Amino acid sequence: MNLQKTSYSFLLLLLICVTNYGKAQTISIIPKPMSLKVLDGDFAITSSTSIEFDKRNDELDNIAQLFHSDLLEFYHVDLPTNSRTQKAIKFQIEPESNFGNEGYSLIVNPEGILISASAPGGVFYGVQTLKQLLPVVPSGDIVVPCVEIKDEPRFKWRGLMLDVCRHYWPVFQIKKLLDEMALFKMNTFHWHLTEDQGWRIEIKKYPELTNVASWRNQTIVGHKNESNTYDGIGYGGFYTQDQIRDIVSYAKERFIDVVPEIEMPGHSTAVLAAYPELGCTGGPYEVAMTWGVFKDVYCAGKEQTFKFLEDVLDEVCELFPSRYVHIGGDECPKDLWQECEKCQKRIKDEDLKDEHELQSYFIKRIEKYLEYKNKRLIGWDEILEGGIAPEATVMSWRGIRGGIEATQLGHDVIMTPTSHCYFDHYQSKDKESEPLAIGGFLPLKKVYNYEPVPDDLNEQQASHILGAQANVWTEYITNIPHLEYMIFPRLCALSEVVWSTRESKNFVDFQTRLETTYLRLKLYNINYRDYR
Ligand code: ACM
Ligand code: ZN
Repeated sequence: MNLQKTSYSFLLLLLICVTNYGKAQTISIIPKPMSLKVLDGDFAITSSTSIEFDKRNDELDNIAQLFHSDLLEFYHVDLPTNSRTQKAIKFQIEPESNFGNEGYSLIVNPEGILISASAPGGVFYGVQTLKQLLPVVPSGDIVVPCVEIKDEPRFKWRGLMLDVCRHYWPVFQIKKLLDEMALFKMNTFHWHLTEDQGWRIEIKKYPELTNVASWRNQTIVGHKNESNTYDGIGYGGFYTQDQIRDIVSYAKERFIDVVPEIEMPGHSTAVLAAYPELGCTGGPYEVAMTWGVFKDVYCAGKEQTFKFLEDVLDEVCELFPSRYVHIGGDECPKDLWQECEKCQKRIKDEDLKDEHELQSYFIKRIEKYLEYKNKRLIGWDEILEGGIAPEATVMSWRGIRGGIEATQLGHDVIMTPTSHCYFDHYQSKDKESEPLAIGGFLPLKKVYNYEPVPDDLNEQQASHILGAQANVWTEYITNIPHLEYMIFPRLCALSEVVWSTRESKNFVDFQTRLETTYLRLKLYNINYRDYR
């Protein structure tokens, strides 16, 4: 009898251990919250659990709708809102609380769930965390473990750049990507809209941009360094202004800022194909059909170039409410400027030293225009060459040197070095085992271990590092599963770089949480590279 009792107790203990073990497995939040306390018990969301919030707040209403439709789509439960039932999921704004714009508290106990924050953005991120507490395999009740979480981001710029020019991504895919970003608390979508190989934004004043510049006659097959073969198939597409407004508003509902990039003075062959008078030689030009850096760039000597760009920026500024406009500025060969009479005259008239200062003149002039439109200019780190525009924010991509220099000059910086942030790079050393990529090698662990604040910055300089960003260039990425394969789970790793505290980072622990996250990606129908 006694023996039986002992073994019964032992079994019970074992059961508790196993259950708790199971529970520990299911708590796999990425990015890792600032503080997380796991408590006993759980709360079951059922079809009578109501979502409660102040109906007068449109943003909360919208957050509730998004959560409601997630539960319906992935868990097939249709929750009531504001039905004042006993057990509820409550969203609460406490303006007096200290959570900033994006921080939140999430409490789950057997009586219900409470998400509170100082601002709607915080509630939204609380919901993203709650979604990661839900079962990865939906069946029966939706059991949520009891927890107390307090959380806020480390950086305010948590970005992803998508190149829609080398390959075009339809509106529904951009929206899916925005959903995916939001789930991992990324808040900035840098939309790379213009390139040598295609112009992708409708500009009403210049219809040839969409008639001509958004289409190329054919595309190189295979890696450009190893191929002379073209596919003979026309390729193109663009976003109408209505589509852009729709995407910007979709992003806003997910607390994502959309920053447009309109490239200048380089990477602009496609524009010249449509408006050859904007180049130094007058052409003829054609929309590029292979990848790389092209010599045909905007003429910096012609007033017409600036008139064109200001007109384009007028429409861009109308479409995008973001404070920022990215103007590219990278990889602009100066060869034709050296030979162009008008460019040389500009150098002389403006008392410039060389073509680098001419590029600086170009960017400063555009910055003045953007300032007049109440916008701030961002450029790739080449905008430092020849003298940086006074208020410019720098994206440090050719390593971290540009970022360091810019912070020392008192400028804001977003870190996006090729070494850690280029998601178009290979994910294995064995290239043959991976889909064709541009080159490089950027495995998950390297992304995870990235530290955006360089060691040699003092506190003041470090405060200029706004955050970090992944860049997805799409020369070699042609379809949606492949795009997601390049982004996940590397974006999960980057989300922890930009959200979680530096001290809390631990790759082994991240890998453990990734196990469950893979299942969650599956649930949401997101493709990924499996690093196991
Ligand atoms: C870049 O990758 N050319 C910014
Ligand atoms: Zn010129």
